Amino acid sequence: MHEFDRYGDVRAALADPALVPEPPTADGGQAGTSVAWLRATVARFSSGESHRRRRALVEAELAGLEPVTLRRAVAAGPEEEVRVRVVRTLAEALGMPEPGAVAEAVTVVAGVYFGGADAAADEAVARLVAQLVPERADEASLEAAANRIGLLVQACAATAALVEAAADSDVPLARVLREVPPVRTMRRVAARATQVAGREIAEGDVVLLDLATANRVHPVPLTFGAPPRVCPGRVHALALADGLLQRPLTAFARLHHQATPLVLPNAWDYASAAALAAQGFQAIGTTSLGVAAAVGLPDGAAATVEETLALARRLGRGSFLFTVDAEGGFSDDPEEVAELARRLYDAGAAGINLEDSRPDSTLAPVALHAAKIAAVKAAVPALFVNARTDTYWLGHQEEETAARLAIYEQAGADGVFVPGLSDPDGIAALTSTLVVPLNILYTPTGPTLADLAALGVRRVSLGSLLYRRALAAAVAAATAVRDDRPTDLTSLCYTEVQALGTSDGAP
Ligand code: HEM
Repeated sequence: MHEFDRYGDVRAALADPALVPEPPTADGGQAGTSVAWLRATVARFSSGESHRRRRALVEAELAGLEPVTLRRAVAAGPEEEVRVRVVRTLAEALGMPEPGAVAEAVTVVAGVYFGGADAAADEAVARLVAQLVPERADEASLEAAANRIGLLVQACAATAALVEAAADSDVPLARVLREVPPVRTMRRVAARATQVAGREIAEGDVVLLDLATANRVHPVPLTFGAPPRVCPGRVHALALADGLLQRPLTAFARLHHQATPLVLPNAWDYASAAALAAQGFQAIGTTSLGVAAAVGLPDGAAATVEETLALARRLGRGSFLFTVDAEGGFSDDPEEVAELARRLYDAGAAGINLEDSRPDSTLAPVALHAAKIAAVKAAVPALFVNARTDTYWLGHQEEETAARLAIYEQAGADGVFVPGLSDPDGIAALTSTLVVPLNILYTPTGPTLADLAALGVRRVSLGSLLYRRALAAAVAAATAVRDDRPTDLTSLCYTEVQALGTSDGAP
């Protein structure tokens, strides 16, 4: 047997079409009556064209399941063994009758799915098939039924293993997934001779891929596999695990787990924040450019710690949720950043943004930024840390972005932010590997809000856009009046602005 445990080698093996899952083709026996038939008919153990067709069946089933709904449903479900809760919730969401009986049968099948067989599991397969398709069903219906059962079996043990590894601790889920991957090894067999990392693999040779070891040396884990077989149930697994673990989420954190992304407009003073909150925005951000420019200081130069705290104290008197853009934390000492976070939290902030670019336009060492995130989470666990990387703005590669974000979420970030990223493929590549919500900066040239939602983005910030627009509007109005040009001077009236300061309980 060939064993691979180096990250690059495992990746190469997973991508090699000559290496297929075991058993490549098993004798399935009579259709719909055995585990052997199930294995021979599901995407998980298929390759080539039949894998593509069967995987499409699974993806179509999963596309109809909203992760937010799964999360809620599994949390509200009866107290049972975790594996049963996972399968019952999925079966219910798929509209299957008697989800309890389905869950019982699926857990029996799961026990022998990756090897072995027993009469009870064969019987369970037959029961599940009988429920899903009428007698003498055609081949296509049987194949669809097998892949629905396969999906439930796949979900069962892996999700339960994740929940078990993460239970009773507050270790970030992203770290658990990397350090204790629920699927630790995968086996392949060579359908024809091939080479991996310079090693000759003969036809029929078995290959063992050690994900757990490979994960240790690379920040972006292989926990959910890799294309063309990357786990299609990844977001569903994360939602189910969240619902089962029931880690307490603050009101602000919950806004990142809604069916549509949180749109976060950024304010620069009390009135702009209160005016936006009055329009029904669920939370308000601040813009460090607006805060710095308003007092004649440069942004991103760690020069506005007092102004930032003063604004937080003012916003804290309002009744809206807000999060503070705190540049890089105004210090390179993680403990000082944690102290600032404590003061922002005491002022009423629900979140903090911490960026990894420095005043000299270089990126901070990744370990330093991760240490700031970890220090803040240790000091103020309830403060939502949005870890921002400025890789795009500073012209770095996609790979650097993915690696930094993976390290930040493993350090405890509650969300991650990549301003300057607008390429849909780049966004999709990140949302397909991240565990925590991705925040993108809105750009008027697109993608649209609907596009961002479809790409899996959970928070969309407006950054300094509103401040720059307000300044532009003020300048345009003043110059039009001075130059006696007609212009649109529609604005809030005096009493409306006055009311902003009182309706929210502010001074
Ligand atoms: C923490 C939980 C989970 C982990 C770690 C996980 C991991 C994986 C991995 C590593 C693979 C690739 C196997 C290979 O390449 O040989 C895979 C495949 C698969 N997973 Fe998951 N999985 C999880 C949960 C789920 C859930 C909840 C579902 C369904 C709702 C699901 C459905 C599938 C299916 C259908 C496949 C086969 C895909 C194919 O062969 O094309 N998984 N999973």
